[in-house]
Amino acid sequence: MKIFLTGGAGFIGSNFVRYLLSETGVRQVINYDKLTYAGNLENLKDVEGDPRYRFVCGDICDRAALDEALPPETDLLINFAAESHVDRSIESAAEFIETNVLGVQALLDLSRRKGVRRFVQISTDEVMGSIEGDRYFNETSPLEPNSPYAASKAAAEMLVRAARMTFGLETVVVRSGNCYGPYQFPEKLIPLMISNTIKNVPLPVYGDGLQERDWVFVGDYARALWAVAMKGRAGAVYCIGARTQRTNLEVVRAVLAGLGRPESLIRYVQDRPGHDRRYALDPTRLEQELGWRPAESFASGLKRTIEWYRSNPSWIEKVTSGAYRDYYQRMYGRREGYR
Ligand code: NAD
Ligand code: DAU
Repeated sequence: MKIFLTGGAGFIGSNFVRYLLSETGVRQVINYDKLTYAGNLENLKDVEGDPRYRFVCGDICDRAALDEALPPETDLLINFAAESHVDRSIESAAEFIETNVLGVQALLDLSRRKGVRRFVQISTDEVMGSIEGDRYFNETSPLEPNSPYAASKAAAEMLVRAARMTFGLETVVVRSGNCYGPYQFPEKLIPLMISNTIKNVPLPVYGDGLQERDWVFVGDYARALWAVAMKGRAGAVYCIGARTQRTNLEVVRAVLAGLGRPESLIRYVQDRPGHDRRYALDPTRLEQELGWRPAESFASGLKRTIEWYRSNPSWIEKVTSGAYRDYYQRMYGRREGYR
């Protein structure tokens, strides 16, 4: 099986590359990634020597570069590439529209032209907005995005749908809750809180900290995605959720407890504008059709995550340093596109 991934140097993508290379039957994995601040080849050092794996530095908005990189007879294209951080989309939405909307259309056009057999779009529960009370999102929930990031991902889903309905491209979409685990850039809640706790600096909690997120460990996510990519119904949407809702405060307190540090490190700060109050996903379709179950509880997944960050302090330093990005920029000959 020949697989073309975009955004495979980021958090979920790099974990998925590692998962894929442990699967038999995978003959070729091409990882096409622009290496923004969030994409780090440091995440994939251990697979660099695998003869089935190849990295190509490129932007999904660059149609010529994409054309050159995408081989004919690709069985599966999985699009992880995105600007993924909500707070950054509130600061400036332009890159989110470029990559998450225009880039997706470029991928769809090329996939159609080059006969990609199946296109998997990585989407998010955030396209469905905020769900109050004790209700759950499922695959038929309306799209009601609230942040520029969520709106760009909802737009992408609509473009994927149009490529299927109009041109018959075989597509599948996955929407998940908040993923966590090793190699997540320390701007997202869990790695930021772990990193700050290790450095003994304050932990910023937005608003009252009672917003809820639905957490899934990245290893469980990888198995779910592989099941959907291989056996999911063409044209379907699948929600990936581990039935693990936690308030942000519960998460932050669990991190502090896991590292043996006091709650006095918590600082309540100004809330995020338009902050979604609650995400909760019903994964029944994934469970019933594809037999997926998460292997990690939140406690065990968080313990593994904390251990990984504690054992890899140099990773945090490297991925957050400008010198690191300059190095890869020189190595791959790129001169633009870094932030
Ligand atoms: P990430 O920010 O860690 O990684 C994104 C990757 O995409 C990086 O390697 C980056 O270099 C690459 N990229 C960005 N713009 C690109 C472009 N124009 N061309 C090529 N590559 C580009 O993101 P992540 O957390 O791993 O998320 C991966 C996908 O999953 C995204 O589509 C995101 O919307 C979605 N998602 C993430 C979560 C989560 O909790 N992390 C949950 C649901 C959905
Ligand atoms: O739900 C899926 C989404 O999860 C993905 O589509 C996004 O790509 C991913 O970034 C994530 O979005 P969130 O906005 O939920 O994740 P973030 O880690 O930024 O924030 C999680 C919660 O924690 C949110 O309610 C905001 C809050 N928060 C976050 C940060 C960074 C804080 O209270 N303090 C912080 O410093």
